[in-house]
Amino acid sequence: MKSSPLTHIVLLSAALAQVASLSYPRAELLGRFQFKNAGFVSFFRNTSTRGVRYDMLVSSFGFLESDVAVVLDVGAQLKNVSAIKPISINKKMKWPNFVSGIPEQVLESKVPFIVIPDGFLVPGKEHGSLTLQPLYGGASSVISGTTGSWFYHYVQWVDMDKDGTLDALTCKAQKPLIGAYKTQMVWYKNPKDHSLSHPWPENVIASGPDVLFAFTKVNVSGSLREVIVTAEYFHPRIRIFWTKSTEQDWSKTALIQSRDIDNLSPGQGAPFDVIISDVNRDGNLDALITLNDPKNGTVLVYEFPEDFRSGTFKRHVIASGYAEETGSPNAGAPGYIELLPEKDESKKPSILVAGDDSGIVSILDPVKPTNPRDWNYKRTDILHTEKSTVGSARVADVDGDGRPEIFVSSYNEGQFYVYRI
Ligand SMILES: *[C@@H]1O[C@H](CO)[C@@H](O)[C@H](O)[C@H]1NC(C)=O
Ligand SMILES: *[C@@H]1O[C@H](CO)[C@@H](O)[C@H](O)[C@H]1NC(C)=O
Ligand SMILES: *[C@@H]1O[C@H](CO)[C@@H](O)[C@H](O)[C@H]1NC(C)=O
Ligand SMILES: *[C@@H]1O[C@H](CO)[C@@H](O)[C@H](O)[C@H]1NC(C)=O
Repeated sequence: MKSSPLTHIVLLSAALAQVASLSYPRAELLGRFQFKNAGFVSFFRNTSTRGVRYDMLVSSFGFLESDVAVVLDVGAQLKNVSAIKPISINKKMKWPNFVSGIPEQVLESKVPFIVIPDGFLVPGKEHGSLTLQPLYGGASSVISGTTGSWFYHYVQWVDMDKDGTLDALTCKAQKPLIGAYKTQMVWYKNPKDHSLSHPWPENVIASGPDVLFAFTKVNVSGSLREVIVTAEYFHPRIRIFWTKSTEQDWSKTALIQSRDIDNLSPGQGAPFDVIISDVNRDGNLDALITLNDPKNGTVLVYEFPEDFRSGTFKRHVIASGYAEETGSPNAGAPGYIELLPEKDESKKPSILVAGDDSGIVSILDPVKPTNPRDWNYKRTDILHTEKSTVGSARVADVDGDGRPEIFVSSYNEGQFYVYRI
């Protein structure tokens, strides 16, 4: 067949588009710096009279020694990324997970504090805790109980019993030598005087939730209801919890309700991360979830129905095909997700995916950014480590230049990658 001039133009512009996408990467690599067994990363935002700065919190998972470390004002150090050296602030933890800064109102303290959710099912690391410690050094305090080998990953600060103080909402899990996983969603009651000399009283919400969850408020027929969506990994399940208490007092355990958001069939993967946000900018909340699987991990969105207590959560698969490449037992992909900042309120945000054991970091860009009914996303892999687990990827404009940075932890390679988008 003789090709028409039109075909040539189409082919030529396709070729040009390809060149363009090669010369303008979705994310520009600023550099890498070393950090042995890199695990988690988060940012502690500091707004003072001198402006906004970001202290970067990192953790490592070592078989002999783990680390919690900080890079003060990381935005000031982007000129030579390879020279960044995190300063250790706690080497006594077993397996420090999502280390993060805590809101000032929690302890009403003059000095900034961080929370370290610790422990994992790796032999020798099972006995975890929720530990608080001052960012600039000082004694650490365990606020969770110390009995039983529970591990912790993540905390949200919420006034659960409406006494005016923020409590620690978390999930914990354990795997006894013999028998099934034990898992619970609990909260630790912040005492009126915020004392750290004893563990805080524990309140159990439910069994099942184990690692990650998201607390938020949803508008149902004009009133704001508190809900917790749980991504349950060990016995795969996605649930939503709420309370029938009129003052939304979660200490009244008999009034707590829950239902499944979806019935997951075996082989769909295990719920890993969950974020609640208006992902498609239609004015209603959505739950963005990763399903972690060895061969075909996915990213899903569930649209909240008008009434979450009874309606159907509509499901959309927005990315799939994540496969583990590390070959380690129980490996899967993907892991943590985050929305990229989008200044234009009419546009859907892009999504950052940390591929966990796939070694991939992707950005999912909406194909039709201003159409809430379109669920197509274009996946661009900005990193493929091949065999090194990328446990976390976090975004913040740490140098305030209007273009956010992405920090990626690469565990087996023992380093962080830093990108600008
Ligand atoms: C960046 O830091 C590395 C490690 O400290 C050093 O070897 C290198 O000379 C620095 N490069 C520049 C351009 O300053
Ligand atoms: C913010 O930074 C100042 C020093 O610039 C420090 O004194 C203060 O404790 C920091 N606050 C937080 C929450 O990190
Ligand atoms: C909740 O929704 C109602 C209408 O359904 C609206 O008038 C109200 O402003 C909303 N409240 C919040 C806090 O979003
Ligand atoms: C992976 O999962 C997606 C979404 O469930 C599905 O459409 C696709 O066919 C699956 N791929 C394979 C190779 O099974």
